[in-house]
Amino acid sequence: MLAPAPREVRALGYVREAIAIDARYARCRDAWAYHLDKCQQHILTAAASLAPGSTVMIIGSGALHDVPLKGLMERGHSLILVDIVHLPKVRKFCKGRVQLIEQDVTGWVRPLFHKKSIAEICDSLPEADLVISLNILSQLPLNLLKYATRHHIPLPDDFVQNITEDHLKMLSAVASQTLLISDLERSYKKGSELLKKEPALPDNGLPAPKDKWDWHLAPEGELDREISLIHHVACWQI
Ligand SMILES: C[S@@+](CC[C@H](N)C(=O)[O-])C[C@H]1O[C@@H](n2cnc3c(N)ncnc32)[C@H](O)[C@@H]1O
Repeated sequence: MLAPAPREVRALGYVREAIAIDARYARCRDAWAYHLDKCQQHILTAAASLAPGSTVMIIGSGALHDVPLKGLMERGHSLILVDIVHLPKVRKFCKGRVQLIEQDVTGWVRPLFHKKSIAEICDSLPEADLVISLNILSQLPLNLLKYATRHHIPLPDDFVQNITEDHLKMLSAVASQTLLISDLERSYKKGSELLKKEPALPDNGLPAPKDKWDWHLAPEGELDREISLIHHVACWQI
């Protein structure tokens, strides 16, 4: 509630979600530990080849659970964190040390709030030596689709595909090196029984990932008493 954010960002649920993900982390810390460690290790490895003082930009930094902030700062890199919401605790922690950019990286949030079916051009992000898209790619269409459905706003047929492709294009426009971490598939399980497996991304032309692992996002008792949700995450260095 204390997170300052524009009306459209609140209306589309981003503030509520930022608070919810932080609360879920507190409850699921053990189940998330492997995934968070994997993300941090891949980020540090990608940054290790950069010259000291390079600029690293992280898109989808959120509550920073998966960001090795200290390790990156110790290497003398300049950091830019981009998210649609930076929680007050993140602002406080980063004040004077890290550049924060609060921006919708899809260009759809404001238009949808005003019941329009056409994206606006996003403000351009600064250039960086390394850009990291951190557990955000599959999330980008979700709140937009929910809001458009609830408010009966028509969307183009290739909406999800376009958002995914535009994000990948944006990454290559802002930096010569990209680290992409995203879930590829999601599994719903009851005990060890697989109930459903669904793709998290549309077709995208990405090469084979460098690494893959499971993020036990919602163990039993979190979303449902008996059903657990696992995100199958992958990592690409492009
Ligand atoms: C699953 S979280 C990533 C995890 C995050 N690094 C953490 O540790 O909390 C996805 C992030 O994407 C951000 N996000 C979703 N849609 C966005 C958009 N249109 N523009 C910018 N950020 C967005 C959310 O605010 C959230 O912080």
